[in-house]
Amino acid sequence: MKKTLFYSLLIISFCYSSHVIAQQTTIQVNAKDAKYKINKNIYGHFAEHLGHCIYGGFYVGDTSSIPNTNGVRNDIVAALKKLKIPNLRWPGGCFADTYHWKDGIGPKDKRPTMVNKWWGGVTEDNSFGTHDFLNMCELLGAEPYLSGNVGSGSVQELADWVQYTNFNGKSPMSDLRTQNGRNQPWKVKFWGIGNEAWGCGGNMKPDYYANEYRKYVTFISDWENSGGLMPIASGASDADYNWTETLMKNIPLNMLGGVAMHHYSVIEWNKKGPATNFTEEQYFTIMKQAIKMDSLVTNHAAVMDKYDPEQKVALVVDEWGGWYDVEAGTNPGFLYQQNTIRDAMIAGVTLNIFNNHANRVRMANLAQCVNVLQAVILTNKEKMILTPTYHVMEMYNVHQDATMLPLTVKGNDYIFDGKKLPSVSASASKDSLGVIHISLVNIDPSHAQKITLDIGGEKFTSATGRILTSKKLQDYNSFTEPDKIKPVLFKDVTISKDVLTVLLPPTSVVVLTIK
Ligand code: AHR
Repeated sequence: MKKTLFYSLLIISFCYSSHVIAQQTTIQVNAKDAKYKINKNIYGHFAEHLGHCIYGGFYVGDTSSIPNTNGVRNDIVAALKKLKIPNLRWPGGCFADTYHWKDGIGPKDKRPTMVNKWWGGVTEDNSFGTHDFLNMCELLGAEPYLSGNVGSGSVQELADWVQYTNFNGKSPMSDLRTQNGRNQPWKVKFWGIGNEAWGCGGNMKPDYYANEYRKYVTFISDWENSGGLMPIASGASDADYNWTETLMKNIPLNMLGGVAMHHYSVIEWNKKGPATNFTEEQYFTIMKQAIKMDSLVTNHAAVMDKYDPEQKVALVVDEWGGWYDVEAGTNPGFLYQQNTIRDAMIAGVTLNIFNNHANRVRMANLAQCVNVLQAVILTNKEKMILTPTYHVMEMYNVHQDATMLPLTVKGNDYIFDGKKLPSVSASASKDSLGVIHISLVNIDPSHAQKITLDIGGEKFTSATGRILTSKKLQDYNSFTEPDKIKPVLFKDVTISKDVLTVLLPPTSVVVLTIK
């Protein structure tokens, strides 16, 4: 064989085997620097009156043949309890600034209808209202997060809502609540003061909104025995740091519980691409968008640090997730999309970012919970499936309220068309029993990653794990194949002295339990 041919074959065989041979990554956990708790509320969800999230999703009505409790599907409640859902945001979104809560209380047959201006122009009968939502939160064991109507409502309307849900004594609103069948207040802590005030919430300028916010918060008194309210300012879209700066500069810290921020992983707003049949180029762009959350959170937090060095105010990412074209044949205003292993990657990477920013990010809400955008649950009449995103949220719930262990990752890039992204993302925590959990994501669809993991002098004797992966990026769970993607036992972890070696397959999420 000629020398040149021999070397060509060698190069070809090397390139081929690089799809099989794992790349090297090292992770150093700095357990001694652990300082912050990962607030369980960053694992929150979002339920808007949008498409079939509430009606035909959570809520089927109490005359439905689908097993339900006061109209709420029992299977959804059980699935979300397994997820340990910590909080649920409602009723929007854009819908919140069109919602008048008094239309959704009292006898259902007497409630007025309303037109859902933002989402499909459909007429709703208001049969799912305040009692339905807050009682559902009690069933779920989740804290309610109510978004108040600033855009088309009034200060009095929001103040009345707080009195209705939280006041423990005699008052016009607590009397009305009792008359409607609920004596004890629900004690709602989280209150959003409008939503996307820069857009669907009223197209306001930041300094105008800051003044509105101050006015609203002045009147939503901390009704006695409510345990303290946490008002959350409608926040920036993506990299609008001026929005955050204007709020932080103009609102006294004692009036601010949290400042929100929204970031969706989208290719282009007018060219989103399909949810399932996407190309690798589209996959790469979405991964880039998901990873962008890290710089967004870092930069918004830096602005907040200037005005709030003690980090009292939470950064609340109350809308995040992947956003694609709607499923063919569905109402474009209903935002129904399937959920693939790509979505599992978004979830894994994003939750690692939130965990690693636990000092400032103390609450977040995936958009949305059922049948809308990056849903964890899809329903079709009596059927219900759990998406790959559900499984990631379930695997990661071990981090809820655990102490974050800082770490550094040194590894390879996922390269597509000459563009690069870090292949591996990770976060770690130690729970109240001393058990360490490490979540690892490899977004590279072609290369496995061999990870050497040093957990920084922590004592351990066993390492077990679970993995979520699938052969193809475009794989998803369907109503005919509901368990195509689900977590299974992970075996590629070995212990040698104080170091773990992990073999992470392409496009996979692994959560390790180290004791
Ligand atoms: O989650 C869908 C919509 O996206 C929400 O209603 C709005 O807040 C955001 O623009």
